[in-house]
This record gives sequence, C-alpha cells and structure tokens, in this order.
Amino acid sequence: MKVNKVCCIGAGYVGGPTMAVIALKCPEIEVTVVDVSKERIDAWNGPFDQLPVYEPGLKEVVKESRGRNLFFSTDIDGAIDRSEMVFVAVNTPTKKDGEGAGMAANLKYIEACAKNIALVAREDKIIIEKSTLPVRTAEKIKEILLKYGRKDVNFEILSNPEFLAEGTAIQDLFKSDRVLIGGDTTESGQNAVKALLDIYAQWIPREKILTTNVWSSELAKLASNAMLAQRISSINSLSALCEKTGADIDELSKAIGMDHRIGPEFLNTSVGFGGSCFQKDLLNLVYLCQFYGLDEVAEYWHRIVKINDYQKNRFAQKIIDGMGGNIKDKIITILGWAFKANTNDSRESPAIYVTNNLLEAGAKIKIYDPMVKKDRIRMDLKNIWESLSITEQEKKKRNSSVIIVEDQKVALNDSMAVVILTEWEEFKHFKWDVISKFSKVFDGRKIIKKNDLNVDSIYSIGV
Ligand code: NAD
Ligand code: UGA
Repeated sequence: MKVNKVCCIGAGYVGGPTMAVIALKCPEIEVTVVDVSKERIDAWNGPFDQLPVYEPGLKEVVKESRGRNLFFSTDIDGAIDRSEMVFVAVNTPTKKDGEGAGMAANLKYIEACAKNIALVAREDKIIIEKSTLPVRTAEKIKEILLKYGRKDVNFEILSNPEFLAEGTAIQDLFKSDRVLIGGDTTESGQNAVKALLDIYAQWIPREKILTTNVWSSELAKLASNAMLAQRISSINSLSALCEKTGADIDELSKAIGMDHRIGPEFLNTSVGFGGSCFQKDLLNLVYLCQFYGLDEVAEYWHRIVKINDYQKNRFAQKIIDGMGGNIKDKIITILGWAFKANTNDSRESPAIYVTNNLLEAGAKIKIYDPMVKKDRIRMDLKNIWESLSITEQEKKKRNSSVIIVEDQKVALNDSMAVVILTEWEEFKHFKWDVISKFSKVFDGRKIIKKNDLNVDSIYSIGV
C-alpha cells in the first residue's frame, strides 16, 4: 500500500520535528500536523525564528517543506478524514488524580484522539502510536475504535515510539540508531507495518528498522528511557561518594566508560536529570510492575527516580551550606532554566526544584536562560507551588523574591552566588569579570574550569 497523505495529532516537541522531517524526506507525501492549541498552530505557521519548539536545524527543515507538503492546522477532523495514516503524538503526562495518581500515565488525550478518529473515519486507516505509552495501550485504543467507529472501516494500530532527544532532535531523526515498528502478525497488520516501513526506508538504512510485535515495541520505549535514566542516577549516586572520598567523578566516568560493554555516552554527572519523559516514564513503568504484582521490580525502578530527587536536593543543600548555612535575603543567580542545553523546554527541569528549595530557605533569586521565556519560568514555579500545596501568602512571598532577567551582565550583578543549572554553551564563555571575587559559584553541570574564574570559591558537582 502506497501512502499519499498522513496527518499527526499533536504539534509538540515530537509531532512538529518528526513530521517536518518526514515531509522533507518524502516530498511526495502530504503531511498535516494538527493540534487543539490554536496558539501552537499559529506559531508553527508564523515566523521561522519563533517556532514553538526550539531545536537546532528545525527552522531550516520547516522552511524547506512548509506550504509545499507540510501543513499545520487546527482542522483535526478534516486532516483525519483525508489521511490514510494517522500518527498520534499527544502528551501522556503522569496522572494527577484518580487511580494511579502520581505514577500512571494519563491516557485521556490518547483516548480522546482514538474517539475522534473513530467518529470521523469513513475509510480504512492506519493509526500510529507515536506517544510513549504503557504496554498494551493498543488494546485500549482498539476497544474505543470498535465502540465508536463504523463497522465497515478497518483500523490497524501500529506502535512506532519516538527516540529523539530534545536539543538534538533533527540530528537524531536524520540518523536514528533504530526505528521501531510494532504491528499485528495478521496479514493486514503486516501490510500496515510495510506501509510505514516504506516511509522510513526513504532515508533510514533498512537494517536499522526493527519490526516487532506491538507489545514489545510499546514496552521497549519505556524500557529504553528507564535504562538511560538509570545510567544518570548511577553516576550521580557515585558523585556523592566522590565528594566524600577525593575520587574525581570525571575520571571515574572515563574509566567506567572505557569498558566497551558500558561505553562512554550518558555518564555525565549533573544536578539530576530533567525533561518531560524520564521521570514520567519511570513512574509509569513502576506502576505497570505494581499492577502485575511485581513489587521488587517496581521498587528497583522507583529507586532511580528517588536518587534523582536526592541529587537535586543534595545540590540545593550544598549551596545553602556553602553560603554558611543561611541564605535569607541573599541574592543568588540561577544560570539556565531549560532541562538541558539547546532546547526551550523546561518540563521537570532540575532548576525548578533547586530554585524552590533556595526560595524556601529565604533567598532572593535572579534567573537567566537564553531560550526559556519569562512566562514559562513563572508558570513552572506556580505549578510546583501548587503541587506542594503552599499557602497563597507564601506563594506571593516566593514570587516576589524572583526576578527574571534577559541579560547576563544584569544576571551576575550584585550576586552573592552563581548557580549553573543548564550546560548552555554561552555559560562556558561568560564574562565572569563582572562578578565579585567573593562570590561563590556552584556548578551543577561541571562546565566551569577553576582557572576561568577569579572567584575564591567554586563547588562542582562530584568534586
Ligand atoms: P507536547 O506537550 O509538546 O505536545 C503534545 C501536543 O498534543 C500539545 O500541543 C497538545 O495541545 C496536543 N494535544 C493533546 N491532546 C490533543 C487532542 N486530543 N487533539 C489534538 N491535539 C492534542 O508533548 P511532546 O513532548 O511532543 O510528547 C508527546 C509524546 O511523545 C509523549 O508521550 C512523550 O512521552 C513522547 N516523547 C517525547 C519526547 C520528547 O523529547 N519530548 C521524545 C520521545 C517521546
Ligand atoms: C530522553 C532520551 O534520551 C530520548 O531517547 C527519548 O526519546 C526521550 O527522553 C523521551 O522519551 O522523551 P531527553 O529527555 O529529550 O531525551 O534528553 P536527554 O538528553 O536524554 O537528557 C535527559 C536529562 O538527563 C537532561 O536533564 C540531561 O541534562 C540529563 N543528562 C543526560 C545527564 O545529567 N547526564 C548525561 O550524561 C546525560
């Protein structure tokens, strides 16, 4: 089956970049990305410098295809109706209430999409799970499609999880380590797998496209994130031991990583991992294990999240201790709000947690990030205060203790401590001469060399 028209529901960090790359690599396919958020769609259709997602190289890819075979729209029904293949890349955050609150993935957006597709479809369609989902979600989607869909329409559900990392999304999509496609073993299931495989095969070498059953594909995505997060929590737990013993965490990472069975990647110690996926997916995995009565397995994976919380709190405490145990009314500058460099995404960023701990201890905070917008930073703080059920009065107090600046010089002025929380390239080449010799620097990303600074005191994680 040759596919001519596809659409993607969800124009976020996954839907936008993945569809832009499919449109670029397959100019004969019409690709429409739809979303309920008019603001997001307007931004995708707006100036190339202000796309809603910041990713190196994304602007160029969108420039090439937008208006040719790549379209962004809020007409969800129209796009579903026209397309032979529907990707679903909506968000699957951790549930906030109800059964599984704080652990399980919230599938309400996925279920809404399934219902929408069922009600609109007049012809057979291939539905692709792009979102990260608990294993056996395809079963649930099928139930919804059967309940609401026309009896003469056939739906095939494929799992095709996305492995891109933010900040390197375009590079990752151009040269994926692997593309995973899970489908039913039936003839129509295998035809659907082949239709999707033919799209990827236009730029991904065939040997890197792996086909499996649906459940393996769904679970492989959660498991991959869990294994990656586990590496960071492992190295971060050792950073604490290095600080006690005089071992050097960088030397440790290098020595461990030289064993080819372990490898050098993803062993950089940090203030903790952030982002919209690792914590959410680990908790989702923990919940699944609990659901199947595998309590020891659940506890094992839960520890990875707990070590991450420990690392964020440990770092904040280092700052407080490093400033003599009292930071009340002291001005502290936070450099970096994004959860990693080269993205404007701050979901679950360690910066949110570290800043909140410092505010709780009475500090005055100045924040600078080159890409995250002011409103976003305020919203992140509001959300954490709400989740912690902090009183209105305390919220007001903490809010008035924060200023967000757009200039590095202003950020460093008058500051008694500088805290580096994102490894932005520009922080490595900062004009540090504006900070006082008596300031302290707390480097949560290990990007500053002692000789680059004229300050007396610098604390780097793991040293
Ligand atoms: P996102 O929040 O950036 O985007 C999701 C979009 O879906 C939003 O714009 C939202 O308005 C839209 N949406 C929600 N319900 C809708 C509906 N019923 N109809 C139309 N639009 C709807 O999320 P994201 O970061 O792109 O992640 C999407 C999924 O991909 C998640 O499951 C995530 O775990 C997974 N994933 C994310 C990444 C990443 O790096 N961000 C990488 C791999 C996988
Ligand atoms: C991660 C995975 O790397 C992707 O493969 C996956 O597709 C994605 O989650 C997802 O499912 O959403 P992402 O969260 O975008 O991608 O970014 P990472 O590069 O994995 O970084 C995650 C966090 O770990 C960041 O806060 C980063 O600073 C931290 N990190 C990463 C470290 O502290 N040390 C490292 O060595 C690597």
